[in-house]
Amino acid sequence: MSWFSRKKETKQEIDLGGVLQTDIHSHLLPGIDDGAQTIDESISLIKEMEELGYKKMIITPHVRYGYFDNDTSTFDSRLEELKRNVKMAGINMEFEVGAEQSVDEEFSRRIENNELKSFGKNKYLLIEFFPFTEIPMGYKQTLFSLQTKGYNLILAHPERYLYLYNDEKTLEELKDRGMLFQMNIISLSGYFGEPVKKFAEKLIKNDMIDLLGTDLHGIRHINALKNTLHNVVLASLLDSGKIMNKKF
Ligand SMILES: [Fe+2]
Repeated sequence: MSWFSRKKETKQEIDLGGVLQTDIHSHLLPGIDDGAQTIDESISLIKEMEELGYKKMIITPHVRYGYFDNDTSTFDSRLEELKRNVKMAGINMEFEVGAEQSVDEEFSRRIENNELKSFGKNKYLLIEFFPFTEIPMGYKQTLFSLQTKGYNLILAHPERYLYLYNDEKTLEELKDRGMLFQMNIISLSGYFGEPVKKFAEKLIKNDMIDLLGTDLHGIRHINALKNTLHNVVLASLLDSGKIMNKKF
């Protein structure tokens, strides 16, 4: 390890779950998206989260046209089943279920049919821009109609939309409209590549990150999370007191 990279590590391990309390983004309803596939896999991942100090998880299955055509009306009963199993396994964890909704060609229809799954007391909605290569057509109108319906919008992992890297105008516009930005913690470990890591650091520097998520799909993400536990940028972000996870 070089002198430079050593300088980027904290001596003391970050108490990640202890500080954040609540994780805002994960894929742990078994077998309905590209996250955990079995109840046993979900349980072992939740156990890992308990060991990291988390007290509550908001589970957010994908709803994406043509990929994950999930019916959000089944999510509550699926969560109840998961909760029963978590209890039987002796794990102490609270849960809520929402969804990670892709702003795609079917999104307007889902808004009209009230198929969106929000969470929290104030109708929080986690959305992602899809595909990752360009901003969705007509996104301004979409965001406006969601806000008109009383949703509070959370944008999942803005650091992964690299087309926004040099687009300060759009980033500021999204923030000015009251959108909360949720960064994936593992972006800081370089898990999604160096450009995403750089963008994450830039968004933090510009005070744009409000919430942190694991975006937990499988054990590979737990391992990547553990790689962030001495990350200096993460430590100072948590120290800043600007991250709102605890409110959920
Ligand atoms: Fe996700």
